[in-house]
Amino acid sequence: MKYTTPMKSIFLLFAAAFAAEPTTYFNTGLTSQVYSRNDGWAEDKAIKVYTFTNPMNGTAQTGLVAAPIYVFRRDTDPKSTPVQKNLIPVAPGDPGYSDLWNVTVVTVPANVTDVITSYSQLATLITSKQVTLSYPNVLVNCPVVHQNSTLDTPSDAKDVTGYYNGQLVHYFDFGVNGAGNGNNNLEKVYVILDSTGNPSGNHVFPGIPGEDGYTAFWYVTTVTTKPGYVANTITSSGATSQGTQNVKMPLTIVNCPVVFVSNSSNGSTNTMTGTTKNGASQFAPSFLALIALLL
Ligand SMILES: *[C@@H]1O[C@H](CO)[C@@H](O)[C@H](O)[C@H]1NC(C)=O
Ligand SMILES: *[C@@H]1O[C@H](CO)[C@@H](O)[C@H](O)[C@H]1NC(C)=O
Ligand SMILES: *[C@@H]1O[C@H](CO)[C@@H](O)[C@H](O)[C@H]1NC(C)=O
Ligand SMILES: *[C@@H]1O[C@H](CO)[C@@H](O)[C@H](O)[C@H]1NC(C)=O
Ligand SMILES: *[C@@H]1O[C@H](CO)[C@@H](O)[C@H](O)[C@H]1NC(C)=O
Ligand SMILES: *[C@@H]1O[C@H](CO)[C@@H](O)[C@H](O)[C@H]1NC(C)=O
Repeated sequence: MKYTTPMKSIFLLFAAAFAAEPTTYFNTGLTSQVYSRNDGWAEDKAIKVYTFTNPMNGTAQTGLVAAPIYVFRRDTDPKSTPVQKNLIPVAPGDPGYSDLWNVTVVTVPANVTDVITSYSQLATLITSKQVTLSYPNVLVNCPVVHQNSTLDTPSDAKDVTGYYNGQLVHYFDFGVNGAGNGNNNLEKVYVILDSTGNPSGNHVFPGIPGEDGYTAFWYVTTVTTKPGYVANTITSSGATSQGTQNVKMPLTIVNCPVVFVSNSSNGSTNTMTGTTKNGASQFAPSFLALIALLL
């Protein structure tokens, strides 16, 4: 019997070592895909956006609900050297999941050597006051995706592996949502329909990065146009008054980070030149199919 305790300790050591570096990915239920830059319009400029459709909660009045993302540091500065991978407490499909994350700094003293891979493990350390939390009030846009998913233009976001529930999880880091430390605004994305209700032309967004109040999070609003409407005539939110607006209920929220803004108002089939991030890319028709799915 005298060996029970040491054996148990050795077993726990092995268990801890095994849990320290997970090698398997949590199954999010999402499909593996290459996310395409899609064409849109914003204030008469041709833009490129990605589209992510993880379920999220929010209202037009109060904005999108953010979830905490835990970043591990020796101090309270989110910009200092990471101690380990980031941890998220919720995955797509969980209550409270959001692509918008509220950066939460976990200050880990050097004598806490465990790799923290699950929220329950973190909660124990918080309760025993071995780590402390601080909130720099920074909101970042990081959609969780399938482990093998990629962006058609990889430089548009950082490709990150984090921890969830003792396993690995894959997300794209599009950075701070909006100006400054970010915001949780929800704005309308206008899906333009012809008079028979079929999507017609590119979607219209009311803002671009760098503008006040810009957000990558939008709620789907259809604009039904009159017979004879010519696709891609409406290229600004102001011009949507030409049609009849209808907010899709329950509020359908999409994450569409704008990654490119052209200088030209002449649409998607032209080679685009512009100032935001990368250069021209190919026309991606899959966006229409996707929004058709949302309707
Ligand atoms: C971020 O989390 C902190 C701590 O819970 C909270 O005070 C703050 O309001 C949160 N910010 C947002 C936008 O959710
Ligand atoms: C959204 O809120 C509802 C009601 O509170 C909840 O049942 C649901 O799980 C939440 N969904 C997400 C993705 O957080
Ligand atoms: C780490 O050091 C602090 C301060 O000396 C001490 O209070 C704490 O109990 C130590 N934690 C561990 C896990 O040894
Ligand atoms: C992801 O890619 C790896 C490496 O190509 C492959 O072994 C694995 O089966 C893929 N996983 C899924 C779930 O598609
Ligand atoms: C837009 O580009 C197309 C293709 O290059 C061209 O035919 C058309 O005249 C242009 N329209 C405007 C308004 O510049
Ligand atoms: C686009 O517009 C910006 C701002 O006016 C300008 O600095 C830049 O040179 C333009 N780029 C091209 C390719 O025309």
